[in-house]
Amino acid sequence: MTDGYYNSKKTDDICEDQTSRAALTFSRLRCMLRGCDIRTCMFLIVVVPVFVFGMYLHGQKLSYFLRPLWESPPKPFVTIPHYYHENVSMESLCKLHGWGVRESPRRVFDAVLFSNEVDILTLRWNELYPYITQFVVLESNSTFTGISKPLIFASNRDKFKFVEPRLTYGTIGGRFKRGENPFVEEAYQRVALDQLLRIAGIEDDDLLIMSDVDEIPSAHTVNLLRWCEDIPPILHLQLRNYLYSFEYYVDSKSWRASVHQYKKGKTRYAHFRQTDIILSDAGWHCSFCFRRIYEFIFKMKAYSHYDRVRFAHYLNPNRIQDVICRGNDLFDMLPEEYTFREIIGKMGPVPHSFSAVHLPAYLLNNAEEYKYLLPGNCKREGG
Ligand SMILES: *[C@@H]1O[C@H](CO)[C@@H](O)[C@H](O)[C@H]1NC(C)=O
Ligand SMILES: *[C@@H]1O[C@H](CO)[C@@H](O)[C@H](O)[C@H]1NC(C)=O
Repeated sequence: MTDGYYNSKKTDDICEDQTSRAALTFSRLRCMLRGCDIRTCMFLIVVVPVFVFGMYLHGQKLSYFLRPLWESPPKPFVTIPHYYHENVSMESLCKLHGWGVRESPRRVFDAVLFSNEVDILTLRWNELYPYITQFVVLESNSTFTGISKPLIFASNRDKFKFVEPRLTYGTIGGRFKRGENPFVEEAYQRVALDQLLRIAGIEDDDLLIMSDVDEIPSAHTVNLLRWCEDIPPILHLQLRNYLYSFEYYVDSKSWRASVHQYKKGKTRYAHFRQTDIILSDAGWHCSFCFRRIYEFIFKMKAYSHYDRVRFAHYLNPNRIQDVICRGNDLFDMLPEEYTFREIIGKMGPVPHSFSAVHLPAYLLNNAEEYKYLLPGNCKREGG
C-alpha cells in the first residue's frame, strides 16, 4: 500500500519538471514504466497479448456464447401436431388435423436452387416423386459467394431421367460482383426461380414447396397436404436436423422449409420465416451431407456464411475428415442458440446415432450406394 503511494508520488514529480514536448512524451513513457510494479508489467506484457490473441482465435465463440445477452429468441412457432400411420386412411388423417378431405388432390410443385448436391437431390426427388406435378430446378454458374462453378446438374442430368417428363430446368448467369454480400446473389437467384415457376405452369391453389435441396419433406407429409382441405395457406415444415449424414442427429428444430398455396402475383419464393405456423416432424434436413471431401470444401467456400472460414487450415481435407468422424463443427463454432442452457447443452460434438428408422425409403433401398449417409460410415472418398 505505502509502496504504491510512494511510486505514484515520485512519478508525478518527474512529470511535472519537463519543458519540451518531445521530452515530455518520453518522460511520460518512462514514468509509466517506472510506476509500473511487477504485477502491472506482467499484465501488460503477458495477459494483454494473450487476451488479444485469444480474441483473434476465439472471439467469434465468445460473441456466440454471449448471444443470449444481446439477442432475444424469435417469437416461438405455433406447432401443429402431426398424425401419421401408413394404415390410417387419408380421411381420418385429415380429420385428426382438423381438416376436411378433398375429392381430388392438389397439384404440387417442388422448386429448388441447385448448387452441387447431386446425391441429396436424388434422395429428395425419389422420396417426393409420387406426389409432385413439376420438379423445378434453377442452377447458376456462380455460387452465392461469387465463385464461378460448372453447371453440375446439367452434367448429371442423365442421373435424373426418372423425372425428365416432369422436369423444368433453368440456368442463370451469375453477376460476379466482388465483395458483395452473398445474400444479394441468393435473393437474385430466388427471383429468377419465381419466373421459372411461372414457366413451369404453376397456378393459383397449387401447392409450392420452398426449401433448400437438403431440406427434404417426407412423402407422407406432402401427400397429406395435397389431400386435405383448409390447410393453412402458408405452413412451415419442422424437419429433423442432421449433420454430415443420418448418423449425426442434431435436433428437430429446422424450420425454414415451407409449403404455400400459390397465389399469382403474391407468392414470392423465400427461405425466411413467413408465418408462425409449423407442422411437426415433417421430414429431414441433412446439412453438409456430401460423399466426397472436395464437396465439403466447395460448399464451405460457396456458403453464404463464407466469413466462417476464418483460417485456411479449416479447408484442410484431413481436418475435415477428422471433424466428420468426431461429429465436430466444420467452422469450430459454438451452437447458434438463444439461451445459455441450450448453448451449454449442445456444446461439444454431436453424439452418434445408431437409428436408421424412418429415413427416406430410397436411401434404405439403395443403402450400398449411399452407405456414407448411414450410421457407422463416416469415412469419405477423395481425401
Ligand atoms: C395394415 O393393414 C394391413 C391390411 O389391412 C394389415 O394386413 C397390416 O397388418 C396392417 N399393418 C399394421 C402395421 O397395422
Ligand atoms: C455464366 O453464364 C452466363 C450466361 O449463360 C455467361 O454469359 C457467362 O459467361 C458465364 N460465366 C462464367 C464464368 O461461366
